[in-house]
Amino acid sequence: LLNGELVKWTGATSDIYSTISSTEDYKPTHLGSIPVLTQKEALMALDAASEAFGKGKGLWPTMKVADRINCMENFVKQMKTKREEVVKLLMWEIGKNLIDSEKEFDRTVEYIYNTIEDYKQMDRDSAKFHKHDGVHAHIRRGPLGVVLCLGPYNYPLNETFALLIPALIMGNTAIFKPAKYGVLLISPLLEAFQNSFPKGVVNILYGRGRTVATPIMKDGRVDVLALIGHSRSANALQDVHPKSNRLRMVLGLEANNPAIILPDADLELAINECITGTTSFNGQRCTALKVLYVHKDIADEFNSRFSEKIDALKFGNPWDAGVKLTPLPEPDKPAYIKELIDDAIENGAQIINKKGGQTTYNYIFPAIMYPAKNDMRVCEEEQFGPIIPIIPFTDINEPLDDMASSNYGQQVSLFGKDTKTLAPLIDTLVNLVCRVNLNSSCQRGPDVYPFTGRKDSAVATLSVHDALRSFSIRTFVASKDN
Ligand code: G3H
Repeated sequence: LLNGELVKWTGATSDIYSTISSTEDYKPTHLGSIPVLTQKEALMALDAASEAFGKGKGLWPTMKVADRINCMENFVKQMKTKREEVVKLLMWEIGKNLIDSEKEFDRTVEYIYNTIEDYKQMDRDSAKFHKHDGVHAHIRRGPLGVVLCLGPYNYPLNETFALLIPALIMGNTAIFKPAKYGVLLISPLLEAFQNSFPKGVVNILYGRGRTVATPIMKDGRVDVLALIGHSRSANALQDVHPKSNRLRMVLGLEANNPAIILPDADLELAINECITGTTSFNGQRCTALKVLYVHKDIADEFNSRFSEKIDALKFGNPWDAGVKLTPLPEPDKPAYIKELIDDAIENGAQIINKKGGQTTYNYIFPAIMYPAKNDMRVCEEEQFGPIIPIIPFTDINEPLDDMASSNYGQQVSLFGKDTKTLAPLIDTLVNLVCRVNLNSSCQRGPDVYPFTGRKDSAVATLSVHDALRSFSIRTFVASKDN
């Protein structure tokens, strides 16, 4: 979608396959193909977005709030008619199970409605009158400019829209490149974008990052880099921007969230929450629990009950009833997962669940590894996969020291009962991460709460309320008492 036109593409295309297979030799399933755009179309998209922003004087940033809201309402209305198609593609392209695929779609629709409501409130607040030292002010917020949006494969709809929607409603214009996996599912929505927004406001590009995103950044007209994904991609794009020191960034990056299970924890509750936290979408969530610190006094019991329950989880294709574990969408992921398992074994851990690590093509059963150590690759790297390392501890300073020295700082789960122990611990943990989940697994939602991280885990804050602020700047109109 370039400058309001759905381009009829006659150039090179790229085939899209699913790792879900219906053949005995696990041959990937061909799903379709996408245009592979070149630098020329990428720069056309940038021209269109720049013109629509018009250095702040364009149609979109100067449009009345009610009219911008109207465009967004039109979009979400049309988007809702594509639910079935998008949900089906979510299952095929990234292997997300039916329930979670439906949730992803519905959560995105709700996110858009909540964004509209929050934006209306922001507009009402801007009418408030402030007075200090004889200066009257109406404080409001204005857009930042042209935004380049790149989302991740694990939430190709929801997290991409968590960047794009607030950026647009605040009056910015955007160029959006869908994730490598979960790319086809954007196609059913192209017409809704085309019908709802003025030309040039949203431009959607298919193609390789290096061919389309890099030249856009090199040009220097992008004001905001909005990316949820790996810091490697964010750094590479930031580095080529000629004014990278002035580039605004809204980034959701890696995490390796730990759970700390204290000796007095309700074990059944902790086990169930840790199962959700570690296995939901096969561990392919930046909010997933990636290291379990279990107190030595309860480790044997935790390990055996946890292993038994993990082994009982149903593996299958995304649309099968009751399926929790599904094939991983990245073809080369099994080799990487095996490397991490081998590294942990070489360093003294074992797989302790019966089905752990069983692999058929991209179907990999979660491997619980015990006793793990913080310097194993599986604990240091963001594996984004189904390995569950358990580190036994005796002194609470062991997990705290590991967290303090980690490059990441998104969330932690803390399981325990004694409030006298928990209270001071929480006070320390909130200085190491941005969200402490008491007796519950880590997660991003509900989407009205701030979503961010310390250190290499994030730059800026997302969620409905905060994203509107991350994609805008405070402005005000002042007058004097005279
Ligand atoms: O990949 C990171 C996502 O923000 C996780 O979101 O906790 O809602 O699954 P979630």
